[in-house]
Amino acid sequence: VTDLLRLHADDVARDCDVDLAVNVAAGGPPPWLRERLQAALARLGAYPDERAAVAAVARRHGRRPEEVVLVNGAAQAFWLLAHACAPRVAVCVHPSFTEPEVALRAAGHDVRRVILPPPYALDAGAIPGEADLVVVGNPTNPTGVLHPRHTLAALCRPGRVTVVDEAFMSFVPGEPESLAAAVDPPGLVVVRSLTKLYAIPGARAGYALAPAALAGALRDQRPSWSVNALALAAIEACVGDRTYAARVAGETEAARADLLAQLRQVPGVIAHPGVANFVLAAGPGWAAISEALAERGLAVRPCRSFPGLTDEHIRLTVRDAATHRALARALAETAGAG
Ligand SMILES: Cc1ncc(COP(=O)(O)O)c(C=O)c1O
Repeated sequence: VTDLLRLHADDVARDCDVDLAVNVAAGGPPPWLRERLQAALARLGAYPDERAAVAAVARRHGRRPEEVVLVNGAAQAFWLLAHACAPRVAVCVHPSFTEPEVALRAAGHDVRRVILPPPYALDAGAIPGEADLVVVGNPTNPTGVLHPRHTLAALCRPGRVTVVDEAFMSFVPGEPESLAAAVDPPGLVVVRSLTKLYAIPGARAGYALAPAALAGALRDQRPSWSVNALALAAIEACVGDRTYAARVAGETEAARADLLAQLRQVPGVIAHPGVANFVLAAGPGWAAISEALAERGLAVRPCRSFPGLTDEHIRLTVRDAATHRALARALAETAGAG
């Protein structure tokens, strides 16, 4: 089971000229971030000291430093959770990023799936009352759905750890549904990634925000010095930024509208607009569409590995207008697309 769940977009994008599969902003990190990373090379001679980065994250979200856990990319947070918690009933809400389920299974936990039907809105009533660990994405990859923060907060209760994966929240202008600053809901863990919007997946930089006792339990599962000096510099720089993120979020909104307009030209397409830097789409006879597009040099994310989705679903990362046009043309021309 977990082999398929471990499929990632970079696995399918490697041999293609045009990458609409990996849901990271194009072009790599911005110049100001590159400069900070360059400067951090000077710190490689010492063991990493995370205090400044922890303080910066805490300041950004109005949290206490004890509530901050720095991680090697958001993905690591799920592995720490799987080892820090001993859930009797762990629930992963799908379709969603599959790493939480992979991590829980690898740690020996059974996982119950709650599979949301289209349009993939969260139904709090579908979460079993006995669940003592619940993982949900907001906005969700690959559906792009943004759940209301009050619906998520209502899942939290004493005796339950509720994990909200906000890896793509920075693409939502103003982040109105973020729970990163919320300290009241019991057992709430918010996971944030810096690799998507700032285009630094190679640096592995992210963090979790949790009540101090739970944050301590997560930190206890990390090896010493687990977040390296370059990642720490990236974390400090990115959480200190608002301007660049706001610009990228605005540009992403406009580019997503362009991608959707192009997709609407393709006969039979169902596109889920979402709020992130990607769009979930499906079409009749699309079972082999990602392979057909790959033959034309276009990498898209096949979605068969996401519980609740099928061979006919693909995830498309928002790119520039010319790429969107090329994609729509290829979709329309590819056998089975219409
Ligand atoms: C929803 C979601 N959460 C977390 C991650 C992991 O991000 P990171 O690169 O920070 O480990 C991903 C990566 O694809 C993701 O899609």
